[in-house]
Amino acid sequence: MMNPQADTHFSAAESYLIEQDWAAYTAEQHAVWAELVRRRMPQLREHACAEYLAGFEQIGLREDTIPDLKAVNTRLRPRTGWQATPVSGFLPPDAFFEMLAARQFPTTTWLRARDAMEYTPEPDIFHDVFGHVPMHAHPVFADFLQQYGKVCAALTDKEKLERMGRLFWFTVEFGVIRQQGEIRLYGSGLISSHGESEYVIEGSKTGHGPQIRDFNLEQVLGQQFLVSEMQKVLYAVESFDQIYEAAHQAEELLCG
Ligand SMILES: [Fe+2]
Repeated sequence: MMNPQADTHFSAAESYLIEQDWAAYTAEQHAVWAELVRRRMPQLREHACAEYLAGFEQIGLREDTIPDLKAVNTRLRPRTGWQATPVSGFLPPDAFFEMLAARQFPTTTWLRARDAMEYTPEPDIFHDVFGHVPMHAHPVFADFLQQYGKVCAALTDKEKLERMGRLFWFTVEFGVIRQQGEIRLYGSGLISSHGESEYVIEGSKTGHGPQIRDFNLEQVLGQQFLVSEMQKVLYAVESFDQIYEAAHQAEELLCG
């Protein structure tokens, strides 16, 4: 298909691009979306970072309907140059990094069914758009994510890519930030999951949750994690400048 951003021509990612058939979503699917959003918002209004909540409004996400990616992009693109680009499913790493480097976030269009509200093994539009895309409206986060994609796209060494995978995990997926003396959420794996978020928020009060360390690039690059369990360790930043700097340091460290 035609790439929606006419001046971008992908090589690895091209065959994964699809159209979002927004009119094909059923009333039941919109109702599932609405319930997912309604379940998450009370906790997020208190515990998501300010940038996430601002982004949610700025890109025009709604509680009652599954987002139309064209409408989201009309609002997102003028802010940071990012767009949410519909893809057919999981992308191989080279295709994924190629898209990030071009400020396009590969976005799935399917939505989990009602019997899988809390967890899906593969990302769906709720994880991708509700979880990830609001942060792309923030200029510093937007620059960080593109830089991340560029660094990874330039790497071929498996071990270096594994190290960069950990940077993604502990920022984009499970990142937290300190704001007003509290731990606030910005990673999509937290934003889109009530259970994971509860574990972090309650744990930060009682000491029974994950260990929350100060963000440190070297440590993050060496930190193992398990996808299928509650996270034992998280890294907190003081501002998004820190991960922007980290993505540039990673380039010096791994591409030099
Ligand atoms: Fe994700």
